[in-house]
Amino acid sequence: MIRAVYPGSFDPVTLGHLDLIERAKACCDQLIVAVIDNPNKKTLFDLQERQSILRDCLGKDSSIQVDSFSGLLVDYLQKRQATVVFRGLRDSSDASSEMQMARLNRQMLPGCDTLWLASKGDYSHISSSFVREIARLGGPIAQLVAPSVAERLKQKLSRSEAS
Ligand code: PNS
Repeated sequence: MIRAVYPGSFDPVTLGHLDLIERAKACCDQLIVAVIDNPNKKTLFDLQERQSILRDCLGKDSSIQVDSFSGLLVDYLQKRQATVVFRGLRDSSDASSEMQMARLNRQMLPGCDTLWLASKGDYSHISSSFVREIARLGGPIAQLVAPSVAERLKQKLSRSEAS
């Protein structure tokens, strides 16, 4: 049985992430989408929000769990008895840091392997940070995130402008 983890910040989840989740699911028996809780990194959405946005997008698919972790990814993999990490590769600029992370993770936890899925061409230019920037500046994000995420961004940004 292959239990795999797809870790990330998901601030917020994009169409590229959702495509990767669907395709990763087809390659393993259980997929855990693990949202990092990193108190040193400022995020637009807090941990609970990032998880609830993901759950809204994924619906009631029992083969996918949404969870969170803090600290080292390898410690979380051990805790969840997962052996595979999925990550997306958008382009060659992702590749070197992803390779470094995979090698370090495997050095710390020799039983774990990272599998990369190449982003779909339509999504390879999307990143959460540009989604946040475009949304903040009032640009169109309908082709970048799911409708429910666009709505959550709108609400979040209108609340932060009001405060
Ligand atoms: O969506 P992101 O921000 O690209 O995800 C990065 C993430 C969360 C996968 C990475 O930063 C991570 O695994 N952090 C956990 C801390 C850790 O294990 N660091 C050592 C990596 S070699």
